Amino acid sequence: MNSFQFQNPTRILFGKGMLEQLGSSISAYGTNVLLVYGGGSIKATGLYDRILKQLQQIGAAVSELPGVEPNPRVSTVRKGIAICREQKIDFILAVGGGSVIDAAKAIAVGVPYEGDVWDFFMRKAAIQGALPLGSVLTLSATGSEMNGSSVITNWEENLKKAIGSIHAYPKFSILDPELTYTVPANQTVNGIVDTMSHVFEQYFSQTADTPLQERLCESILQTVVENGEKAIHTPDDYAARANLMLSATYALNGGMISVGMQNDWATHMIEHEVSAIYDIAHGEGLAILFPNWMRYVYRERIDRFVQFAVRVWHIDPTGKSEEEIALAGIQATRDYFTKIGAPSRLSDRNIDAKEVGRMAKETVRFGPVGSFKKLHEDDVRSILELSL
Ligand code: NZQ
Ligand code: ZN
Repeated sequence: MNSFQFQNPTRILFGKGMLEQLGSSISAYGTNVLLVYGGGSIKATGLYDRILKQLQQIGAAVSELPGVEPNPRVSTVRKGIAICREQKIDFILAVGGGSVIDAAKAIAVGVPYEGDVWDFFMRKAAIQGALPLGSVLTLSATGSEMNGSSVITNWEENLKKAIGSIHAYPKFSILDPELTYTVPANQTVNGIVDTMSHVFEQYFSQTADTPLQERLCESILQTVVENGEKAIHTPDDYAARANLMLSATYALNGGMISVGMQNDWATHMIEHEVSAIYDIAHGEGLAILFPNWMRYVYRERIDRFVQFAVRVWHIDPTGKSEEEIALAGIQATRDYFTKIGAPSRLSDRNIDAKEVGRMAKETVRFGPVGSFKKLHEDDVRSILELSL
């Protein structure tokens, strides 16, 4: 196990009725609030009215930034920064899924910066501070509610890049599983795939002697598999939604499940470049790419893939070679994604070989990606070609 530091400053308010705590949670930071939300789901579900009521109760002045896109765009972030400056906003409230929370974080770090916020994403400037922000989560998937990451698309340049900063952690996040009852089946599937993928990025590691972290990872994967189909088929199953929500939050909250382990993240970097050009949902891209990444790298450390197959997918190892067990685990992953309705090929989303070279090149813009196996441009191209 490697030495590590771990800090996660986000307060979590989890469970039915926690929305009632929203007003008092905000008033500690200020009452001039920017409310950030997406394409209208919060109005359709009635959540918007409940939020405004909470804000009224603390006498908040409210400005709004509606219309944050799935795969949120830097153009929208810039609008939010301008509103914050004009209105002298002192607290940002994100109400939505990962896209809305990520946009709110980018706004928060962009306000005190004199240059253009995109500089942070191109690694041209370091984040020095942020406006305080909080979130009300409506879709479990990204873990953005309890981490310091933000992933933003520059649509004009077809780039999708990430930042991570201690300044970008939400001060608090309200996680009421009931707010996810209205998430459509396909987005529930995307959330399941994303959560599992976050675990894969940490679990497939070259770091030795990390049994606790490995079991934490495996327990999240098993919990997601046990609850995923329940939530897809019975959207208002509270227990299933609650277990998925907690799993997603734990899967990517600043690395708690993989402290002291080297992480990979290559597949996420590749997926971001697919979304940057084709604007597909993040979970769809991961479902297509991850089993192919696994096939490409499993020989680098076959014992971890054997453990994954046996402990997570309950593959019977009797009479099988290590290679057969590892491949059976990878196939079980693909079969599960297919069973819950996720795509398995880029062609399922009308993506052909045309931009493969460009995506591979962009993935390695800042250097080779991954650590389980370090991937260069040619490797990335091979994984994308396997996925066509
Ligand atoms: O826009 P609205 O109308 O709100 O509709 C959204 C959107 O269309 C809808 N939705 C959300 N909650 C709902 C709901 N519909 C009905 N009822 C509800 N309760 O779902 C759609 C997708 O929402 P989105 O926020 O885009 O999904 P997700 O949470 O999966 O976020 C995806 C984004 O997060 C990034 C991805 O790259 C992508 O841009 N990621 C962020 C990470 C992070 N910050 O740590 C890590 C991830 O790996 C990921 O890269
Ligand atoms: Zn992800």
